[in-house]
Amino acid sequence: MEVNRVLHMNGGVGEASYASNSSLQRAVITMVKPILEETILDLVSDEAFLASKVLCIADLGCSSGPNSLSVISHIVDTITTTCHKQHRQPPEFQVLLNDLPGNDFNTVFKSLPSFYDKLKRVVPRAYYEQFKHDFYSFLHSRSEEVIKGGRAVLTLTGRRTDDPSCDENCAPWKMITLALKDIAEEGHIEEAQIDSFNFPYYAPSAAEVQDIILLQGSFSLTRLEGFEIGWDSNMTTGNTSFDNLRRARYVSKYVRAVSEPMLSSHFGALVMDALFQRHIERVAEHYNKEEPTFNSLVITLIRK
Ligand SMILES: C[S@@+](CC[C@H](N)C(=O)[O-])C[C@H]1O[C@@H](n2cnc3c(N)ncnc32)[C@H](O)[C@@H]1O
Repeated sequence: MEVNRVLHMNGGVGEASYASNSSLQRAVITMVKPILEETILDLVSDEAFLASKVLCIADLGCSSGPNSLSVISHIVDTITTTCHKQHRQPPEFQVLLNDLPGNDFNTVFKSLPSFYDKLKRVVPRAYYEQFKHDFYSFLHSRSEEVIKGGRAVLTLTGRRTDDPSCDENCAPWKMITLALKDIAEEGHIEEAQIDSFNFPYYAPSAAEVQDIILLQGSFSLTRLEGFEIGWDSNMTTGNTSFDNLRRARYVSKYVRAVSEPMLSSHFGALVMDALFQRHIERVAEHYNKEEPTFNSLVITLIRK
C-alpha cells in the first residue's frame, strides 16, 4: 500500500465526508485559538515582520473541510486588525494550502469564493476598528483641552446606510480604483500595486459616531445630523448648465489635491497625470449615470 496515495480524508461534502465530520478538529482549533493569537501578536511586533511586505501562511494538511479556511481567515483578520490598531499597513497575504495528492482539492477550490467573500467583510470591519480607535483618542485628547461646559462643533464625511462597503460610501474612491485599473491596463503600473494600496478613509454612520461618543464618555451629545452635498456643489451653485466633463474636472482637481501625496508615494509621481486624466473620464461617466452626493455629519458636544 502506497501511503501517499491512500492517506487522505473522505472527499466531497456528503454525509461520510471529512468536511461534514470535522467538528472534533474544530473543537481542538477553538481550544488552541488563544495560543495562535498570542503567537500572531508576538509575530506582528517582530522586526522581521515589520520589515516584510508579504506574509506567507501555510496549512500543512488542509484537507477539504471548513476548518482550514476558517483558521486562515482568523489569522488574516487578527493581523489586519492589529496592524490597523497600530496605524500600520497590513502586509499582503500569500496562503499555501498543502495536502497529500489524494486530497479532494476540487472541494477546497469550490470553497474559495465564500472565503473571499468573508475576507471582503473583514476589510470594512478593520477600517471601522481603526476609526473607532482614532475617534476615541481624538475625543479623549479634546476632553483634556476643553473645560467643563465648553463646546465643540465637528463635521465629518459620513454615510446614510449601515453597510460601510455600499456604493454610496465608496463611489468617490471607486473612481480612483477604476482609474488605477485603467493605467495598469495601459502598462503604467502593476496590478499588484493596486492590491497593496489602502486608502486611510472611513465614512462612519451617525449610529457609529454616537456609540463612540457615549463609550468615551467625556462629552454630552447635543446634536448629530446628516446632510447631503453634491460632489460639485460649490461649482454649480446658481449654475446648473455645466457639462459633465467640466464637472468631472472640478471634482478630480479637489480629489487630486487631497490624495496625490499618498498615491504618488505608492505609485510614483510620474504616473499621476495619466491617473488623473483617467479619473476625470471615470467621474464624467459616473455623472452620466447619476447625480452623486457626499453625506456629511455635523456633531455638537458639551464637555461634561
Ligand atoms: C485530520 S486532517 C485535518 C484537516 C484540517 N487541517 C482540519 O483541521 O480540519 C489531517 C490532514 O493532514 C493530511 N496529511 C497527513 N500527512 C501529510 C503529509 N505528510 N503532507 C501533507 N498532508 C498530510 C491528511 O491528508 C489530512 O487531510
